[in-house]
Amino acid sequence: MSEQQVVGILGSGRAGTAFARVMLRAGIGVDMCSTRPPKALQHHLKIYAPGAVPVWPWQVAARTSTHGPGIVILAVPQEELDEVDPGWVNNAGSADLVLVDATNTWHDEELPGWLQAPIDEQLPSSYGIAGRFSRTKVVKALNHISHHDIEAAANPDLPLEQRRAVALAGDDGQARGRVMNLLMLIGFDPVSLGGLCASHPIEPDGPLFDRPLRREDILRFAR
Ligand SMILES: NC(=O)c1ccc[n+]([C@@H]2O[C@H](COP(=O)([O-])OP(=O)(O)OC[C@H]3O[C@@H](n4cnc5c(N)ncnc54)[C@H](OP(=O)(O)O)[C@@H]3O)[C@@H](O)[C@H]2O)c1
Repeated sequence: MSEQQVVGILGSGRAGTAFARVMLRAGIGVDMCSTRPPKALQHHLKIYAPGAVPVWPWQVAARTSTHGPGIVILAVPQEELDEVDPGWVNNAGSADLVLVDATNTWHDEELPGWLQAPIDEQLPSSYGIAGRFSRTKVVKALNHISHHDIEAAANPDLPLEQRRAVALAGDDGQARGRVMNLLMLIGFDPVSLGGLCASHPIEPDGPLFDRPLRREDILRFAR
């Protein structure tokens, strides 16, 4: 990489900062936002994701769009998503921005209607995210590994076949490829399940959620 690539992360809590730490470790720059202004977020990031750059939410997609790889990770609880303006990523100036949906549905959360509707129809929650963030290409990934595990599990020094496997799903093959490349850089063995319709196994009640996985475990569910 000649120029440092940057990934945006929406949400700077347990998941967002864990994702940031493994990216920074792999030499990938990270822009992060939360409900707090960048100045207030700075102290938190110094402790939990040193090296990450605090930005306003509407700036979170800017640098990744110009410096690549054009990826923003959504790490905000689903019950808060009405407050996340799709324009922050939809209008970033990049026609092909990828939004990694790292969120999960928990039964104790009261969800926005637009997210509850597909779930009521037994569809994966990422359908709701894709409908809401309609100008991005949504890829479901990184939601099925705990923030407790991610740093120990991601190891770019291991050959692919010895790494922990992680699953992803998305309707656009090029977007899936871009996310696979990122997951590989941070030290996983990424395996595609297929389109968003194939993402049920990595949701919280699914057989691939929060388990140490190998490639063949995921391939059993690939469509
Ligand atoms: N924790 C895990 O191990 C893990 C792993 C994979 C996926 N996930 C999923 O990731 C999502 C987040 O989980 P979490 O555990 O990281 O939650 P968390 O620790 O509560 O952090 C949530 C973050 O979202 C930010 N946020 C809330 N509303 C926002 C808004 N309107 N605009 C911008 N930022 C906003 C919060 O900002 P403030 O900091 O300002 O409050 C906080 O930084 C959930 O869906 C979860 O299931 C979690």
